[in-house]
Amino acid sequence: MKGRFITLEGIDGAGKSTHLEWIANLLREQGKKVVVSREPGGSPLGEKLREILLSQPMHLETEALLMFAARREHVDKVISPALDSGIWVVCDRFTDATYAYQGGGKGLRNQRIEVLEKWVHAKLQPHLTFLFDVPVEIGHKRLGPHQDRFEKEGKLFFEKVRNAYLKRAKRFPKRFRIIDSSLPITNIQELLKKILLTLC
Ligand code: TYD
Repeated sequence: MKGRFITLEGIDGAGKSTHLEWIANLLREQGKKVVVSREPGGSPLGEKLREILLSQPMHLETEALLMFAARREHVDKVISPALDSGIWVVCDRFTDATYAYQGGGKGLRNQRIEVLEKWVHAKLQPHLTFLFDVPVEIGHKRLGPHQDRFEKEGKLFFEKVRNAYLKRAKRFPKRFRIIDSSLPITNIQELLKKILLTLC
């Protein structure tokens, strides 16, 4: 039996990192073997690319290409081997983030991203994607003092990112679950549990 691939998405400050380990532990309690990972990053080379991506200004297309270069390594070294051996993968961001940030936020054409998506993971899609949705104002207030290159973007940028995420959720309703991230954490966890148990 193959593992399941679960991704967490949302604008910066939406609170997905709070729920990442909690989700992994819930699945472990259900007897699943779980790997937790993140993008950009997730593999040794991917983590090096992450450092560059989060700190170094670059052409938008370079940014998208590096995101997918890191993703290629991640799929090859971590995600596919885990799923093939029955391990579940819970990942902080995946390709929906490229559609939302480089596409929606920065204006890269979706067709460009689609080409890279087909190239890098034609046969692989998350089984389930949680979109942690929160108004930009609230997300912004939750950001810490040390912000990376993306977190330093303005509110208009994050409005566009949020809208792009919501559009993706509408386009792929079977895969996406939108979580109202302005609710108290315990309410969110109850909701997550209900959804996750249907997968187990
Ligand atoms: P994030 O999960 O927010 O890391 P942290 O919680 O440590 O700040 O991800 C880092 C940033 O990378 C985030 O601002 C969104 C950006 N990103 C993209 O722009 N495109 C992508 O394809 C991915 C995976 C991330």
